[in-house]
Amino acid sequence: MSSILRQHAEDLYAQELEEIRKQDDEKKPTNWKLSPQAVVLYLVGGKLKNGFEVSPKYIGSKRLMEIAVATLTTDRALLLYGLPGTAKSWVSEHLAAAISGDSTLIIQGTAGTGEEAVRYGWNYAKLLAEGPSEKALVETPVMRAMKDGKIARIEELTRIGADVQDTLITILSEKTLPVPELNTEIQAVKGFNIIATANNRDKGVNELSSALKRRFNTVILPVPDSIDEEIDIVRRRVESFEKVMELPAEKPALQEIRRIVTIFRELRSGVTLDGKTKIKIPTGTLSTAEAISVVNNGLAMAAYFGDGQIKAADLAAGILGAVVKDPVQDKIVWQEYLETVVKPRDEWKDVYRACRDLPSM
Ligand SMILES: Nc1ncnc2c1ncn2[C@@H]1O[C@H](COP(=O)(O)OP(=O)(O)OP(=O)(O)O)[C@@H](O)[C@H]1O
Ligand SMILES: [Mg+2]
Repeated sequence: MSSILRQHAEDLYAQELEEIRKQDDEKKPTNWKLSPQAVVLYLVGGKLKNGFEVSPKYIGSKRLMEIAVATLTTDRALLLYGLPGTAKSWVSEHLAAAISGDSTLIIQGTAGTGEEAVRYGWNYAKLLAEGPSEKALVETPVMRAMKDGKIARIEELTRIGADVQDTLITILSEKTLPVPELNTEIQAVKGFNIIATANNRDKGVNELSSALKRRFNTVILPVPDSIDEEIDIVRRRVESFEKVMELPAEKPALQEIRRIVTIFRELRSGVTLDGKTKIKIPTGTLSTAEAISVVNNGLAMAAYFGDGQIKAADLAAGILGAVVKDPVQDKIVWQEYLETVVKPRDEWKDVYRACRDLPSM
């Protein structure tokens, strides 16, 4: 097993990608490693003709993945949009891995992301010594993607200031990147495109300018439809985490995952699953990604400070941490949920007790 803490998708799933490639007899767009159909198969999983099982990466609508992949074959870029923790970054990474065999051409958008991080920068020592030259130029991931005909990824696009966002307009509409200092330009090679992600919940984000909006096709990734789908997502992600972290714990019982996901879905929607009891909604988002972390945390607690089998007591602190983001408001919401929903459920007595016993309650 690799000692790298987090492998890139194209390395971690190298075998799957290779098996798919061998069976892929559909037409590939120029510089794509796989055909669009094969990329979707890689994303949603399935069985190959030779019986090889491809694991699902994205769990949810196959149609959405088809729309995303189809977009990338056109002259428009792809924007994955949605609530936090709906697999936007995850899908973006796997798309880049499957299409270009490289998910590393990435720009992390922040309020401090400047133009030189998107277009190109300069190595100032060289610039001062030799003046502007090809060698003094510092390429960005976008520039490299244009040269190599690959997918560039921009994370959290709407965190980037509007003026810097707009530097993408020429790149996306003209598919060129002018370098006036060298009196030249970079022309994108076929296969180049951009996948951006953005979420609509975080504070301090900028609007996407309308000029830029017109150059992106937006695919909205939804919160998982059904509880079973969400349980499936959490289970699969937790199992792979367990493997990577080499935790000496047993697989969490499906029942524990079901309880966590139930709590998350009820608090998220403001009503119990049976539709009978209304509850208050906490300020945080309670995404699937957080449900995954709660279970991962529980596993670590069980492995190192419990008996190796995940129990309510191992999960309680994680649940509290995920739900109570605002120490005053959310605490009231959580206490009310504990008393009116958790306490009356006979088979949830252990959850109720574990949560009540927490030092911070
Ligand atoms: N539908 C889904 N299918 C597969 N995995 C999912 C799904 N929804 C969430 N996940 C898992 O949730 C985790 C978090 O996803 P990711 O980081 O991509 O979220 P995000 O949408 O980029 O969130 P943010 O807006 O906070 O950046 C990933 O490990 C991913 O596997
Ligand atoms: Mg993300």
